[in-house]
Amino acid sequence: MKTRGAILRAVPGEYEIAELDLDEPRHGELMIKMVAAGMCHSDDHIASGDTQVGHLPMCGGHEGAGVVVQVGPETYGWSEGDHVIFSFLAACGRCRWCAKGMQNLCDRGALILAGTRPDDPESYRMSLDGTPVAQTCGLSTFSEYTTISVESAVKVDKDLPLETVCLLGCGVGTGWGAAVNSAEVYPGQTVIVMGVGGIGINAVQGAAHAGAANIIAVDPVAFKRESALKLGATHAVADMEEATAIAQSFTNGQGADSAIVTVGVTTGEHIGAAFSSIRKAGICVVTGLGKQTDFGIPISAMELTLYQKRLQGSLFGASAPTADIPWMIDLYRSGKLKLDELITNTYKLDDVAQGFKDMREGRNLRGVILF
Ligand SMILES: NC(=O)c1ccc[n+]([C@@H]2O[C@H](COP(=O)([O-])OP(=O)(O)OC[C@H]3O[C@@H](n4cnc5c(N)ncnc54)[C@H](O)[C@@H]3O)[C@@H](O)[C@H]2O)c1
Ligand SMILES: [Zn+2]
Ligand SMILES: [Zn+2]
Repeated sequence: MKTRGAILRAVPGEYEIAELDLDEPRHGELMIKMVAAGMCHSDDHIASGDTQVGHLPMCGGHEGAGVVVQVGPETYGWSEGDHVIFSFLAACGRCRWCAKGMQNLCDRGALILAGTRPDDPESYRMSLDGTPVAQTCGLSTFSEYTTISVESAVKVDKDLPLETVCLLGCGVGTGWGAAVNSAEVYPGQTVIVMGVGGIGINAVQGAAHAGAANIIAVDPVAFKRESALKLGATHAVADMEEATAIAQSFTNGQGADSAIVTVGVTTGEHIGAAFSSIRKAGICVVTGLGKQTDFGIPISAMELTLYQKRLQGSLFGASAPTADIPWMIDLYRSGKLKLDELITNTYKLDDVAQGFKDMREGRNLRGVILF
């Protein structure tokens, strides 16, 4: 069938709308009518070329939710009309990582930037005038319809607003888990969150949920700082120097228990500043992404060893989507996790480029495309 989707023809480039051919779902697949798609900075990293993808054109988007319109042959447990949140990382359920509850590290992750099926590096479901079109993370949430693997789908109750819970497919779990799982925040701690976008605001929420006494949000944009204060931050400042001084003032000069880096275009210098802000045996969590070709983080190796500090990467908040997305839905239902408040602006698919412009100019906590 035909669908309209936002594609990148070249990088660096901008997302533009094209009419695509979409294949029917095969065994283990679902065709989805999209309802909503969040715009994450990782989609912009692909457009800018910071993150290198395996194939162009690519139909963008990896955060979203929709309704099943067709179920592949012998694909049990799924029906037309099911409501689905997409997980940007597929989980096979059988590899050593899935088996140990670390679905975010599932071996299927190897093909998210190839844009093929998660289990087959040669197989595409979208095309443009006969040329295969890659799907970001095997998903392409920036398309009116898409065909995905069931390994990327989490079924949810039909009463939930898909326009809102779509954010659970990347941004919310990534930020929340960065605090709760990766920074291992516990009651009374002092936490710095560096960069308050769609990810960082959820690190703020996660740190608050875990009982942090002091949550210092850092962002150069005033609107971001105000948003952080509304959603759990106790302090909000424009730079790491001030944040570090505040953290030291609460910890007898030692520094923050953890610092979480969620800057849009993360550099080694950002990570170095976060690493310097933490106390002995503290944790510096790196969630933000920068240029794939960048190497080197300016940290003192002596500080790393003698202060026994930890530098900790975090992918999708070290979460297991089929367990943690339902858990976060419960938290949303009980009012403990705010989602509606995260959506600053909504867009039509045709305005996707404007949405990314607004993101880059600091106008959105999260922008969401509504179909
Ligand atoms: N690890 C993962 O699993 C994962 C998942 C999704 C996104 N990401 C990455 O996380 C990062 C954040 O994504 P997002 O969607 O929240 O981006 P965003 O653009 O919405 O937010 C980034 C924020 O960083 C702020 N910022 C810029 N420079 C700063 C500085 N020097 N100090 C403090 N703040 C600064 C910006 O003002 C903005 O508010 C991106 O690099 C994205 O690719 C990682
Ligand atoms: Zn994302
Ligand atoms: Zn797996």
